[in-house]
Amino acid sequence: MKTILITGANKGLGFETARQLLKKGHHVIISGRNQERLKASYDTLAHDKAEMLLMDVCEQKSILAAAKQLMANHVIIDVLINNAAILHKDDHSLINDDFSIAAHTFNTNVFGVLHVIRAFMRLMKSPSRIINISSDGGSMSDPVGGWAPAYCISKTAVNALTRHLAVELQSRSISVNSVCPGWIQTDMGGTGAHRPVEKGAETPIWLATDAPQTLTGKFFRDKKELHW
Ligand SMILES: NC(=O)c1ccc[n+]([C@@H]2O[C@H](COP(=O)([O-])OP(=O)(O)OC[C@H]3O[C@@H](n4cnc5c(N)ncnc54)[C@H](OP(=O)(O)O)[C@@H]3O)[C@@H](O)[C@H]2O)c1
Repeated sequence: MKTILITGANKGLGFETARQLLKKGHHVIISGRNQERLKASYDTLAHDKAEMLLMDVCEQKSILAAAKQLMANHVIIDVLINNAAILHKDDHSLINDDFSIAAHTFNTNVFGVLHVIRAFMRLMKSPSRIINISSDGGSMSDPVGGWAPAYCISKTAVNALTRHLAVELQSRSISVNSVCPGWIQTDMGGTGAHRPVEKGAETPIWLATDAPQTLTGKFFRDKKELHW
């Protein structure tokens, strides 16, 4: 049984990943920024191996308080899944949009990931795993431009951060990989998405459980490495 912490797990991909990991018998800590939404999701899971943790990945104070809470309870983490992210509905132009759109997007999707990793590092086992949920919108090998630029750049940064951290954490036997779940049926995916969220959760679950520990610094979709 592994102890797995998932950020932004009160709905969407994070919630589905938690649901499937609980079904496999793991101890899953679902975290979210809103107490009521988090409690509602926890109640829906209705599982004795589920735990909830209040944490806003944009607020360093909140992240540090959450890490302190787990440390006080002597929790050791086997897998950290950085899933929480935003896609701003008015993210259209790097030049014309209000700067707050890019700032909020990077604060959540990039600095949020880094702050969480730094704060929870002391709770992570050797060996253990970090999985960053990214997007093929962050790929630099596909044509770029024309769609949610701040979000796409934030996911490019997540992929880059993944590779750098994989090198930095190799000596501690912590693998670091990123995943594109595909265009999935969640609030973020919107009405055009055709891919079931269950399918999107397959690769993060594989990386959390069955993938070789030696895989690190890579970007995956459907359990296959993507060049980005
Ligand atoms: N949906 C897609 O088609 C798609 C495609 C590629 C990649 N992804 C990636 O997949 C991941 C999950 O997305 P999703 O589709 O499940 O999106 P979603 O349904 O919008 O869920 C996002 C989750 O992140 C949480 N969150 C946002 N800001 C947060 C913060 N500051 N602190 C803590 N939690 C925060 C949300 O909490 P609240 O409920 O409080 O807002 C929610 O639980 C994201 O990393 C996303 O970029 C999604």
